[in-house]
Amino acid sequence: MSPFVLTRTLPEDATGAALRADVREGLTAVPKTLPPKWFYDARGSALFDEITRLPEYYPTRAEREILLDRSAGIAAASGARTLVELGSGSSDKTRHLLAALAGPLSYVPVDVSESALTGAARTLLAERPELEIHALVADFTAGIELPVTPGPRLVAFLGGTIGNLLPDERARFLASVRALLAPGDTFLLGTDLVKDPAVLVRAYDDAAGVTADFNKNVLRVLARELDADADPDDFDHVALWDPDREWIEMRLRARSALTVKFPELGIAVPFDAGEEVRTEVSAKFRREGVRDELAAAGLRLTHWWTDRAGRFALSLSAPD
Ligand code: AVJ
Repeated sequence: MSPFVLTRTLPEDATGAALRADVREGLTAVPKTLPPKWFYDARGSALFDEITRLPEYYPTRAEREILLDRSAGIAAASGARTLVELGSGSSDKTRHLLAALAGPLSYVPVDVSESALTGAARTLLAERPELEIHALVADFTAGIELPVTPGPRLVAFLGGTIGNLLPDERARFLASVRALLAPGDTFLLGTDLVKDPAVLVRAYDDAAGVTADFNKNVLRVLARELDADADPDDFDHVALWDPDREWIEMRLRARSALTVKFPELGIAVPFDAGEEVRTEVSAKFRREGVRDELAAAGLRLTHWWTDRAGRFALSLSAPD
């Protein structure tokens, strides 16, 4: 059995301090915003899991189809001896890719959730005991330092999560990925693609109301973590397509005039009736846009794979 190494780079209190700063900044801004990362406590992660199985939510299935069909091509194009996965979570979708990469292989899952990392490692090692796993508890948007493992490295950022970053955050993120890569290393990126707005809106406003529950979960997080009197029943779930910025926006809309008090922060946040807080953007991409954003970060697009219905893309790029 190979050693399982886990490195923690997040201070114990990083989460609480970041949440307080984000709430103070986002909820006193005009218009109000909250970063989407605060959806994902245990309940929010379970709700997202449920979302990925909804009939309306196609991205997870579309990406899995590409990973299943193209893992041999991705493995050949990258020649990777180390797979680094940013935001690895349960490492579920990585399985096919790991299976396609020739051993001996190192796997570096990076996630903010230590429990997700240890759970994923246990499952993977049961299937493939010779895998060298070096897990990193880290916030990949804050810049990370990778352990020394054999090259070439393939850095993967899957799920379309890059779409949850705003354009300037995306540029900074891609530059930090570029900085991780040595000559011969590659970057595998999952992006959801622009399509019929009706299909997109349904994916973020499902009939069963799971996405609404997921969106409102951020209010439960605020209530628990900051002792705020935020009540999910006071807000409606809103999902809309912005045709200019080509992104889906999720918002929470106050059903009536109300005030949310944050005793720990010493602030009270007033809402007019109908006032909204933006809780997530989920940008959708085109090939040229992905190529240009990668190029701006010093990465050259070398491969572009989509599912058969053309809904989702995986791109491979290399330092130029
Ligand atoms: C985390 C990027 C995969 O933006 O589609 C799902 C999160 N939000 N439904 C996305 C999400 C609402 C999701 N990703």
